[in-house]
Amino acid sequence: MNDKNFGVDYRELDRIIEDEYQADGENLIMMLQAIQNRYNFLPRPALYYLSEKLAIPYSKIYGVGTFYSTFSLEPRGRNIVSICLGTACHVRGGERIKERIEAVIHNTAADSQQGLRFSMEPVRCIGCCSLGPVVKVNEDIHSRITPDEVETILEKYE
Ligand code: FES
Repeated sequence: MNDKNFGVDYRELDRIIEDEYQADGENLIMMLQAIQNRYNFLPRPALYYLSEKLAIPYSKIYGVGTFYSTFSLEPRGRNIVSICLGTACHVRGGERIKERIEAVIHNTAADSQQGLRFSMEPVRCIGCCSLGPVVKVNEDIHSRITPDEVETILEKYE
């Protein structure tokens, strides 16, 4: 992946902007969604390009990208790992689970040619405290996990 432009493919952007959404600024949010689906976040070069193609000020596009919590302007992994650090999960060893997740992320990031495989987001409570410690990977909840199970669980997510 090219660090400077985050691997942004301008022909693909043209396909999204022109072919899918007719370069119509009314479709801005859907274009941003399509770009995020492709890169797992909104790379700034793609937003500048979008700004030029649609003749919409970059500040406005940036504003839309930061307003909605579904959009991210920072690189994210293909899989989002939410580690619960709420009180119930914390007392059952959430912090040690978090350290193991960080180790896996560290080891997988170096190998990846297709962007990050995982991002970790600490959360305060997932709502199933009696099952702690709890980790959510994308939409899957993993409960009562031990530090030694972390690697096996994450292996399943490409
Ligand atoms: S504290 Fe972890 S699920 Fe509630």
